[in-house]
Amino acid sequence: MELIKNLQWRYAVKKYSDESVSENKIDQIIEAINLSASSCGIQPYRLMVITNPAIRQKLAEGSFNAQIHASSHLLVFAAFNTITSGYIADYVAMMEEQRNLESGALNALKDTLTPYFSGQTAQQTAIWSSKQAYIGLGTALIAAAELKVDATPMEGFNPELFDEVLGLSEKNLHASVILSLGYRDTDNDYLASLPKVRLPISEFSKKID
Ligand SMILES: Cc1cc2nc3c(=O)[nH]c(=O)nc-3n(C[C@H](O)[C@H](O)[C@H](O)COP(=O)(O)O)c2cc1C
Repeated sequence: MELIKNLQWRYAVKKYSDESVSENKIDQIIEAINLSASSCGIQPYRLMVITNPAIRQKLAEGSFNAQIHASSHLLVFAAFNTITSGYIADYVAMMEEQRNLESGALNALKDTLTPYFSGQTAQQTAIWSSKQAYIGLGTALIAAAELKVDATPMEGFNPELFDEVLGLSEKNLHASVILSLGYRDTDNDYLASLPKVRLPISEFSKKID
């Protein structure tokens, strides 16, 4: 399977070259993330794709991850703080439209999801949304590897700073996890020549027949 080769090729890059990733490749990665599965299928996160150098310098303040500013693109996975009844109604209406159903055909789904989310605490919803964002992160890593674009997933950033600089709170969002994209600087990244470290499959996985 080509995917295994691509996953062996990828690693979390520490040092990027100055080469930019083409918009076409970025758009394919975005599309792959949008196609990710999400619980209840309601995609409770949004993606910010940032190239602006001044904004990226600000976002990198206080972080040990230079990749926040020193890479081609920065993706911010911003998870929902709450799931409102309005959001569910709009999403279900979109489902009806995309599946050529009559308006109201999916009322039962709407009537199940609405009380489910209104019964959650803000913390529960934020954690649940963030989990869905991480599924998108996984897709992004795979998509980037297939395009031979390098990537670094990162939790080492200041989420409050991101929320403030990107105005996420007023959009009912919070920064969940981030991903830099670009091309490895093979000569200056100490990780570039190191073998990948993984558990033996026999220790990692057990088949129960
Ligand atoms: C959710 C998540 C957060 C991570 N945060 C950082 C980070 O802040 N900085 C960093 O350099 N690498 C970060 N990494 C990269 C991991 O250290 C790396 O994926 C791991 O060591 C496995 O190596 P590989 O991805 O190169 O195969 C993160 C990875 C994940 C999945």
